[in-house]
Amino acid sequence: MKTICLIPGDGIGQEVIPAAAQALRALDLDLTFVEAEAGFDCFQRCGEALPAATLEKVRQSDAALFGATSSPSGEMRGYRSPILALRRELNLYANLRPVLSLPGDFSQPGIDLLIVRENSEGLYSGRERREGDTAIAERVITRAASERIVRVACEQAMQRAHRRGTPPTLTVVHKANVLKVSDGLFRECAMRVAQEYPQIAVREVLVDAAAMKLVKSPQSFDVLVTTNLFGDVLSDEASALVGGLGVAASANVGDGTPVFEPVHGSAPDIAGQGIANPVGAMLSAAMMLDTLGQSQAALELREAIHATLTAGVCTPDLGGAATTGEFTCAVCQHLAHVESEVKKP
Ligand code: NAI
Ligand code: MG
Repeated sequence: MKTICLIPGDGIGQEVIPAAAQALRALDLDLTFVEAEAGFDCFQRCGEALPAATLEKVRQSDAALFGATSSPSGEMRGYRSPILALRRELNLYANLRPVLSLPGDFSQPGIDLLIVRENSEGLYSGRERREGDTAIAERVITRAASERIVRVACEQAMQRAHRRGTPPTLTVVHKANVLKVSDGLFRECAMRVAQEYPQIAVREVLVDAAAMKLVKSPQSFDVLVTTNLFGDVLSDEASALVGGLGVAASANVGDGTPVFEPVHGSAPDIAGQGIANPVGAMLSAAMMLDTLGQSQAALELREAIHATLTAGVCTPDLGGAATTGEFTCAVCQHLAHVESEVKKP
């Protein structure tokens, strides 16, 4: 039996995480769910964005499914984004963000790439300060974290090549022509680690060119590895090629309990309307099942999502008219159908 910690968070997190949990329950696996709170609402109620009890529940679980939380722009005393805190506390140093074509005219065909984003340092080091009218953010790049993330990317490239029967390729994305010292170190580490994997074809692309190539020829990418902020930006961009933020899934992995989360935020502009797209959360749940060794269930969940989209059922962000609830029911019906097919004598 596996224990899953559900952290809906704020805004549409409260809508998409219950939807993903409903799909997981429909799979009829040996899973137990515990719920925990985090986020801006939680901070306003109890003074903490990530209560110690939540962190403890995550530590006690086999995996966590996180929705989204609201972070006010600018300074807010005592508030720190709970997902950044979770990544730090659990040392979840790798953020895996797959971008895969979906059935529907909202998605381009033939895309199957993975962005491996460094999750622990870079411009998200939290080292920011004001010196009078000058503001400084420190972009921390270390050899240890750079080598570690490139190793994750190489392992992912090897696994994907094995699964897809295609040669592994790795694109190292950096800006070492300008950030000569910090990205110079990242690049040096990337090239060194990649040499340990002679089967992998390695190329390097400057981040601005990578942003353009992702739009122009997304089919030419396999695994990309990059630093924290670049990975964050490029993955939102890449999600637009297959339907947008509503369908983008991710995994935070490293030393502690892995945390799976849709890439999107709390979407205050649509929160509470029942129209949030749960696909990103559901595909994150599928990544979680893979990690828990439940690959067959992960496949069934992905197939049910694909079948639902193929039938033209989708939320307004994808051009459809389905509510979160209607989409989720349709996915669960497909899962029930698969179950009864399997159980037929
Ligand atoms: P956002 O991802 O919440 O929304 C961007 C746009 O995409 C909005 O128009 C929204 O309606 C749409 N969208 C996003 N997810 C969708 C879904 N599942 N279905 C349909 N439409 C969807 O990003 P935004 O507006 O920049 O940030 C809102 C809040 O979320 C901020 O407080 C920000 O700090 C927070 N945020 C939290 C993240 C997290 O918890 N991991 C990640 C990104 C932002
Ligand atoms: Mg982002």
